[in-house]
Amino acid sequence: EIKESTVLVILGASGDLAKKKLFPGLYGLERKCLLPEDFQVVGFAPDQISHEEFVNIIRSPVKLESPRFAEQLKQFCNRCSYVSGHEGGDKSFEALKKKLDEIGHGKKEQHRLFYMALPPSVFVPMSEQLKKHCYSEKGQTRLIIEKPFGHDLESSRELQRSLDPNWREDEIFRVDHYLGKEVVNNLLVLRFGNEIFGSIWNQRNIDNIQVSILEGKGAEGRGSYFNSTGVIRDVMQNHMIQILALLTMERPKSLSADDLCDQKVRVLDWIQPIKVEDTIIGQYAKSGDGEKPAFKDEEDVPDDSRCATFCAAIAHIDNERWNGVPFFLKAGKALNESKTEIIIQLKHSANANIFKDMVPNKLTIRVQPNEGVFLTVNTSVPSLTTSIEPMDLDLTYRDREIPEAYEALLLDALRGDYSRSVRGDELDASWKIFTPLLHHLDENEEEKPREYRYGSTGPEGLDEFVTSYQNRSKM
Ligand code: BG6
Repeated sequence: EIKESTVLVILGASGDLAKKKLFPGLYGLERKCLLPEDFQVVGFAPDQISHEEFVNIIRSPVKLESPRFAEQLKQFCNRCSYVSGHEGGDKSFEALKKKLDEIGHGKKEQHRLFYMALPPSVFVPMSEQLKKHCYSEKGQTRLIIEKPFGHDLESSRELQRSLDPNWREDEIFRVDHYLGKEVVNNLLVLRFGNEIFGSIWNQRNIDNIQVSILEGKGAEGRGSYFNSTGVIRDVMQNHMIQILALLTMERPKSLSADDLCDQKVRVLDWIQPIKVEDTIIGQYAKSGDGEKPAFKDEEDVPDDSRCATFCAAIAHIDNERWNGVPFFLKAGKALNESKTEIIIQLKHSANANIFKDMVPNKLTIRVQPNEGVFLTVNTSVPSLTTSIEPMDLDLTYRDREIPEAYEALLLDALRGDYSRSVRGDELDASWKIFTPLLHHLDENEEEKPREYRYGSTGPEGLDEFVTSYQNRSKM
């Protein structure tokens, strides 16, 4: 349950994250009638805008499928107010405090959540101001933050150290929006709720696992951000590692946040830092027809940029369960398709020789688009001869309403459920996997990414790279 007298403050309320994800997510919760009657939202941003202009920001991304929702949208907008301010001035935070006090006036308690929809450079000064002026004296206070949490292990620890004096670990909710995706959420149920999968989930039965986060779009409009980030920091160190942890961790004692995070950290600690020779790094060039730009054509991207817009990497988990199983991780922008998918490739059955044309079983978990889980099994072709064809047992989510990731995570944060929040030590463990590789790539001028065409499957040599590992793992 969301406690009564809860206020959510969105800092950076006129920015993209707020507009595209947070307000629509909150409105989604309104539509599902999950917000308590006295729940309030306060937007905070430097822009001097009127209440009407603020409400327009909230309304603009919402598509009203039915007139009945217009009333709910109005109701939601009535919960929202706006305070203009910036991180530098005490005055701004005094104004914010005043607003919060007004909302809480006459109430026994007030719980305050602060969502930092802001660039990381202002996380620390902002959080100091919030602690100084806006910490709730009669209720809980929480800080909600979102990546990037630093750019390597050391800077992530540094950020943590700067937050430490003011904010306890249980007051910080770290969002990784992939943890709010329904299919990612389903991984635990699939593994631990089904003996059929639980019992094969190990190196005796699994040949390899592939996790891909592929995007058809390039870094359009975000060239400068992306150039200083690269695909490894953008999606692999966080989203992909979270998927990998849920796929490979041991069964948690319970679904409590601590039991879950403990198991995630434990398995991440078994992953060796990724070696440069176990990667293929790429950067997209113009599309074949010249219509789509190269990464270097983006505004604010220098001609000699060595930024990785594509990375394929092999990870190994050295524990008993996963020893010898290669994990192929692949992420990139400007590819031929947009798809996030996990493939669990099973080993060839020892009994395969009695049938011709048998393929090893394969479990495909499609995170997006067209969410679903498919198990490829061998079946006999209906005919008078015994021939075999692979078919999919199909658990698609077609026709089922899937909550938006931000709806799910906002609800968690508002309820104080930390089971999908990234704990500080998880961050540490995930940075350890990539930091040596990132430093190597950053520091060595001769490490140039391989070019691939916008709209292609990635750099050349990818298939050979994957097969060479598949063969190695069979030796
Ligand atoms: C974000 C990255 O975290 O995730 C983006 O910064 C990326 O570059 C996005 O496009 C992918 O998220 P989704 O939900 O669209 O798969």
